[in-house]
Amino acid sequence: REAKLDLVTKHIKCFPDFPSKGILFRDICPILKDPGALTAVIDLFEEHVRQTHPQVELIVGLDARGFLFGPLLAQRLGVGFVLVRKKGKLPGPTVSVAYKLEYGEAEVEVQEDAVAPGEKVLLIDDLLATGGTLYAACELMKKQNAEVIGCMVVIELKELNGVEKLKPNTLFSLVQY
Ligand code: PRP
Ligand code: HPA
Repeated sequence: REAKLDLVTKHIKCFPDFPSKGILFRDICPILKDPGALTAVIDLFEEHVRQTHPQVELIVGLDARGFLFGPLLAQRLGVGFVLVRKKGKLPGPTVSVAYKLEYGEAEVEVQEDAVAPGEKVLLIDDLLATGGTLYAACELMKKQNAEVIGCMVVIELKELNGVEKLKPNTLFSLVQY
């Protein structure tokens, strides 16, 4: 487990002042470029889910980088994968939840029939910053009467305290800064 975490950490790149001055951007692209590092990420998530949430029925991934890890994990676990997208991208009847960004507002959306009432879902994204995006996705799942059993990210930015924002939903992260 330590060796896998080490491999993952080595493949996170750091960009000062992106996308704007004062922001230290953590980039997961090198993980995707390295098959060993990507396998390590999925192994670590799989181990966590099998130990902590064996009852999971569905993996729900967040637009856009949750889509990179979610389907791989869902396949390993033998469960389905559902997309939570930014508003206006999904066809057919949808349900949405608005949330605040640093400047302005955004909305996350899911297809109305994508999640069944009572379904036990785990949410996944690449990174937790303020927690606004994952929290809105949790609210969206609850609006559909799904049972959110946890949230998972590769990277948690501790100083922004997204974990507080997410409560009472719980977070599992592989790497913390
Ligand atoms: C990033 C990241 C998370 C979210 C985290 O996505 O991938 O989804 O921000 O921020 P928060 O915890 O403060 O809500 P971004 O909004 O940059 O969109 P993208 O995935 O389309 O690049
Ligand atoms: N990296 C990637 N996405 C992000 C970050 C970051 O550091 N902060 C907020 N969204």
